[in-house]
Amino acid sequence: MFEQLKEKPADKILALGQAYREDPRAQKIDLGVGVYKTPEGVTPVMRAVKAAEKQLWEVETTKAYTALAGDPAFADAMIGLVLGKAVTRDQVAAIATPGGTGAVRQAFDLIKMVNPGARVFVSDPTWPNHLSILAHMGIEVVMYRYFDPETVGVDFAGMMADLEGLRAGDVVLLHGCCHNPTGANLNLTEWRAVVELLNAKGALPMIDIAYQGFGDGLDEDAAAVRYVAANCPEVLIAASCSKNFGIYRERAGILMAVVQDRGLHKVTQGNLAYLNRQNYSFPPDHGTRLVSMVLGDDALRADWKAELEEVRLGMLRLREQLASELQRLSGSDRFGFIAQHRGMFSRLGATPEQVARMREDHAIYMIGDSRINIAGLNAATVPVLAKAMIETGV
Ligand code: LMR
Repeated sequence: MFEQLKEKPADKILALGQAYREDPRAQKIDLGVGVYKTPEGVTPVMRAVKAAEKQLWEVETTKAYTALAGDPAFADAMIGLVLGKAVTRDQVAAIATPGGTGAVRQAFDLIKMVNPGARVFVSDPTWPNHLSILAHMGIEVVMYRYFDPETVGVDFAGMMADLEGLRAGDVVLLHGCCHNPTGANLNLTEWRAVVELLNAKGALPMIDIAYQGFGDGLDEDAAAVRYVAANCPEVLIAASCSKNFGIYRERAGILMAVVQDRGLHKVTQGNLAYLNRQNYSFPPDHGTRLVSMVLGDDALRADWKAELEEVRLGMLRLREQLASELQRLSGSDRFGFIAQHRGMFSRLGATPEQVARMREDHAIYMIGDSRINIAGLNAATVPVLAKAMIETGV
């Protein structure tokens, strides 16, 4: 049977990591996969997570199954973190999922179950795995304009014009903050206009939020999600704990379905738990338990927030350093956007040929669309990247 299988294209982000690891050059720079790194190139276990893990070892007495939806304390803690007071607890159905990707996948599954003809509108560009999962599931995709390479900001007029094509029951996938791959984000006035249009069209917003706390701050980064949750009849939210808790390999994420109509809560919750059962039964517990322990303990929570803030400010400093280094070398302000963008990523505006040359001549690895992971840099490598960019004609 397996002779029927066809080779699958490698995931571009993961394949780049492999190429980087195989490069023997000592001075290589990895700006690929979205994983936080200290200036020393280490992805640390966060202090509060380590402390929670130690406590957990002491207090955990069983590894028996939890609930199908995952540990309820995790859902409560994450709903609080992401949604604040935008809605009440009885308006949010939620399941723990294996990472943010698991939540995205479960959201698409729910959409397919409820409305098999739904189209999913996706920003151009978006995280490549959104497109890959949608194609794998046979869900129709419509791209909406999002990024304007000229202004290196959001093409809001283009986006709104494309969303005019929505039909009732379609879904619009939006990045809650720190847009991946561009780093260019909607402002709150623009979010309000999007909400108004979606409500008028009868379309469902689905928000992927994987970088809360990496942009302008924990609450600031959740402001748009909270606004959408409070102002749309129904919303799907896929949130990841991989980045802001640094627990990538533990696979901790959550899918939330916000329903203004409290009468829909029970059936929605039941269907989400059903989807967990169909796809993998119980979600992973270890990472989600660490998250609820950190968020549920005042001292651990304060320490986690402080460390996350150090991470965020470190990335902002690197953005500013890179923008000013490029201004010095190019004598122009055309790279000022790097300091304005938010999150882990920015698109530098290099052509695929220039990206390839930076890899071959300078051992600098970035995604083919010139997306860089800001956290892959440090104060010493920023000038190396800036010089390579100017030399390759970016
Ligand atoms: C990324 O975009 O680099 C991250 O979200 C990691 C991944 O799984 O692709």
